[in-house]
Amino acid sequence: MKTIMVASWLAMLMSICLAAKDSCVTCHQGLEGVQSDPVRKFTNDIHHRHGFSCADCHGGDPQRDDADAAMSPARGFRGKIPRTAVPQLCARCHSDASLMHKYNPRQRVDQLAQYLTSNHGKRLTAGDTAVANCVDCHGVHDIRTTKDPLSPVHPLRLPETCARCHSDAARMEKYKLSPTVLADYQTSVHWRALADRGDLSAPSCASCHGNHGAAPPHVGEVAAVCGTCHVMMEDLYRGSPHKPIFDDMGVAGCVACHENHAVMHPTPELLNSESGICANCHDAESAGGKTAAGMAKLIGELSSQIDRSKAILDRARRSGMEVSPALLRQTEAQEQLVKARVAVHAFRVDAVGAPVQEGLAITRETYTAGLSALEELDRRRTGLLFSLVAIGLTILGLWLWIRNFERKKRSLTAPVTSSGSGDPLGG
Ligand code: HEC
Ligand code: HEC
Ligand code: HEC
Ligand code: HEC
Ligand code: HEC
Ligand code: HEC
Ligand code: HEC
Ligand code: HEC
Ligand code: HEC
Repeated sequence: MKTIMVASWLAMLMSICLAAKDSCVTCHQGLEGVQSDPVRKFTNDIHHRHGFSCADCHGGDPQRDDADAAMSPARGFRGKIPRTAVPQLCARCHSDASLMHKYNPRQRVDQLAQYLTSNHGKRLTAGDTAVANCVDCHGVHDIRTTKDPLSPVHPLRLPETCARCHSDAARMEKYKLSPTVLADYQTSVHWRALADRGDLSAPSCASCHGNHGAAPPHVGEVAAVCGTCHVMMEDLYRGSPHKPIFDDMGVAGCVACHENHAVMHPTPELLNSESGICANCHDAESAGGKTAAGMAKLIGELSSQIDRSKAILDRARRSGMEVSPALLRQTEAQEQLVKARVAVHAFRVDAVGAPVQEGLAITRETYTAGLSALEELDRRRTGLLFSLVAIGLTILGLWLWIRNFERKKRSLTAPVTSSGSGDPLGG
């Protein structure tokens, strides 16, 4: 009985030692530079956390201490992994659903399939190594989960990751691609929302280009790309006269008016019939030009009425008047303005007119509320003045009365002196 227990203990101990033995790590730890870097970095790697090690990617035999035996090609060892071989290496596990789902039942297994549809994947397959493979985007030896803020594919870091190549003018020249995509993108409302406010609902490169199937959206698909987030604009644009015309002209939907990377905050200036975006294609006298002018006038009117009401309500509030219901109502006018700016995408004056009229009705109401608050303030001020005067008069009256009273009191209690020169009684 005792011997059986000892034997099983020994067996367990041996299996632990064998499992833990990793000559790759042990030996590489003691080497210099590129040979030990992977070991140092590997502690942060998601694969390390799941119990994988060097041999799971490089092959070889981690049970052998001898370098030649451990790194024997006969044991499947691969030292340098050529760039063109990387996707297949990663896909050995990442395209294997039964393996991946043991670790994470919800993990996708289509990264390689998607990648092969991208320009990156197509070029790499053809032997062009200037394009991105898996490790250019994810790193190597310190591959992190995509949720990790330090991952190079985290939305906040991704632009820099892509820009390592896409801002490299020499690399891009060969493909006639613009090297300013990062610079343009970093001027956009999207990057400002992401970088300054940490708003992860704003798009980073992959939100528009896809994670693995990176290709620029084709002309007809652009509205769909932007429309994944800007749903209402997409719906209106699709129903507008521009959609079929732009498709025929080869003009990319939303991008024709907003750019793809340098997306700015739109202002009613875009509708200006001389210098606006519509003026690029429509002269002022055409149906398009007149539509632009009509929409600009309506939107301009509502914004200035909102400003006017806001000014008067602010004045009333600062003077201590209770105008919060009107201020609340005012936000509904603001909402109508937003609706009107969305309705621009129908490119019809009446579509913009409807929310503008509703908004104007609200501003008339809130302006009146502000006005009456100020009138009420005036009334209260007049009232206050009256009461102040009354109080002043009362105080004055009191003071006179007290003075008079004291004088009388003094005269009654004044001592009678012997000389008493001025005293009519004593004289
Ligand atoms: C006893 C030490 C030792 C062991 C054990 C060892 N290596 Fe190495 N390895 C080296 C040295 C030294 C080099 C660099 C010189 C060379 O190219 O052989 C190297 C190079 C490499 C390279 C780079 C190859 C290249 O061409 O640049 C890889 C990858 C590598 N080892 C992986 C492994 C893996 C995986 C294991 C375990 C299965 C392992 N090593 C085990 C010492 C070792
Ligand atoms: C998830 C797969 C994976 C794991 C695990 C992995 N490597 Fe690598 N390793 C690669 C890939 C891919 C490359 C090629 C990187 C490139 O193209 O820049 C590489 C490159 C290397 C190189 C550089 C070869 C050269 O000359 O450029 C060394 C050395 C190396 N690995 C050692 C290790 C060691 C040691 C471990 C364990 C601590 C390890 N690797 C774990 C995938 C892996
Ligand atoms: C052009 C850059 C790029 C390339 C090339 C690339 N990836 Fe990705 N990968 C990403 C981005 C971006 C994400 C998503 C990050 C996020 O969710 O925020 C991602 C996510 C992942 C995920 C998490 C699950 C998922 O699908 O969202 C895995 C696993 C993955 N990639 C593996 C790979 C493999 C394997 C390859 C090579 C066949 C590869 N990636 C090539 C950029 C890239
Ligand atoms: C030996 C199998 C194996 C190999 C080879 C492999 N991986 Fe993984 N990888 C995994 C497993 C298992 C996970 C954990 C899955 C999880 O937790 O969702 C993982 C996780 C990841 C993640 C994090 C996924 C997430 O959802 O955040 C990325 C990114 C990744 N691997 C990229 C790569 C890249 C790039 C390569 C090639 C250089 C590679 N892997 C090679 C098995 C492997
Ligand atoms: C290792 C360098 C490298 C990295 C990193 C890289 N790319 Fe590329 N990319 C290229 C090269 C080179 C091309 C040109 C191939 C072609 O289009 O024929 C290209 C092509 C593209 C194209 C197709 C353009 C077209 O019209 O042909 C898109 C879109 C793209 N990349 C987006 C991205 C995004 C998004 C990222 C980051 C998630 C990224 N790339 C990361 C090198 C890279
Ligand atoms: C808001 C969506 C969006 C974001 C974010 C975005 N792109 Fe694009 N990108 C597009 C669209 C749309 C096109 C195609 C434009 C066209 O067809 O006129 C494009 C085109 C491209 C092209 C090819 C054409 C060219 O101009 O050279 C590359 C490369 C590219 N983008 C890379 C990137 C990179 C890198 C990032 C992140 C720094 C990024 N994009 C962010 C929407 C986006
Ligand atoms: C992943 C979601 C997403 C995608 C895809 C997207 N956007 Fe946006 N967009 C946002 C968010 C979030 C904001 C709000 C930024 C802010 O709060 O300032 C925004 C803001 C804007 C604005 C400015 C609105 C304003 O009032 O200042 C315009 C214009 C715009 N996007 C156009 C586009 C175009 C054109 C595309 C396609 C090329 C696109 N967006 C793709 C999420 C997205
Ligand atoms: C023909 C030109 C044109 C096209 C095409 C176009 N827009 Fe606009 N867009 C405008 C103008 C003009 C405004 C600004 C109206 C204003 O501020 O008065 C605007 C405003 C916006 C706003 C800001 C609305 C707000 O609340 O302030 C967003 C977001 C937007 N557009 C997204 C898109 C998307 C997404 C598409 C494609 C589905 C698209 N646009 C197509 C001209 C266009
Ligand atoms: C890229 C060029 C382009 C831009 C920018 C553009 N349009 Fe158009 N639009 C056209 C073309 C082409 C037609 C069809 C021919 C025509 O009627 O002029 C058209 C048609 C129209 C029509 C229908 C005219 C009719 O006769 O029924 C209206 C309305 C219109 N556009 C309004 C606008 C407004 C408003 C803007 C700015 C927000 C704008 N367009 C921006 C090219 C453009």
